[in-house]
Amino acid sequence: MRIALIGSTGTIGGAVASALRDRHEVIAVGNSRGDLRVDLASPQSIRALYEALGKVDAVVSTAGQAKFGPLELLSDSDFEVGLHNKLMGQVNLVRFGLDYVADQGSFTLTSGILARHPMRGSAAVSIVNSGLEAFVRAAALEMPRGLRINVVSPGWVSETLAAMGRNPSDGTPAAEVAREYAASIEGTQTGFVFGPQ
Ligand SMILES: NC(=O)c1ccc[n+]([C@@H]2O[C@H](COP(=O)([O-])OP(=O)(O)OC[C@H]3O[C@@H](n4cnc5c(N)ncnc54)[C@H](OP(=O)(O)O)[C@@H]3O)[C@@H](O)[C@H]2O)c1
Repeated sequence: MRIALIGSTGTIGGAVASALRDRHEVIAVGNSRGDLRVDLASPQSIRALYEALGKVDAVVSTAGQAKFGPLELLSDSDFEVGLHNKLMGQVNLVRFGLDYVADQGSFTLTSGILARHPMRGSAAVSIVNSGLEAFVRAAALEMPRGLRINVVSPGWVSETLAAMGRNPSDGTPAAEVAREYAASIEGTQTGFVFGPQ
């Protein structure tokens, strides 16, 4: 398959690229690095990415930013970061990508455990992750030409916890998380939320 991987330069994206590269052609897309670049917060940039990409069999996003912070301190712009970048950025990857994905192809997006297991400070992240999961369930009902759409909702990743100075064994290694993306891309499910329940 020819697979566009947005976020391929990141912790999860790098592991997904490694998991797929021996079986598929992976086009690495980052924000500041990669074969191609995109800014998820810019609809124009997403449209330009698809023009540069041409036809693909799968679009995978392991990108998307949202802000942590105490509810009382979160500003309008803190909420807008997540809504414009992680939520609408990935929704727009699907909306603008429909004509570029081959018949029976797929979209795989990324949400996160904070959709179903919130913590203090996660309000602006949890709303985005839940929104992505709701979007995927609904959009799957309207996908044309046998296209599939899923979302991976990772728990904490070991490498991320290590970088934060926390215990990596409280999380899941990125290589294991990457297997959920491979299952979404290579399997038959649609409208599905992969990851710990
Ligand atoms: N890591 C975790 O523990 C964890 C757990 C649950 C959910 N998640 C979610 O998984 C996703 C990826 O996490 P990660 O830890 O792999 O992140 P990461 O290591 O920070 O990587 C982020 C990736 O996104 C790209 N990116 C940044 N800003 C972008 C933009 N405006 N437009 C397009 N691409 C952009 C980066 O590209 P450049 O390198 O070129 O800047 C990089 O490839 C995030 O949405 C995160 O919320 C992560």
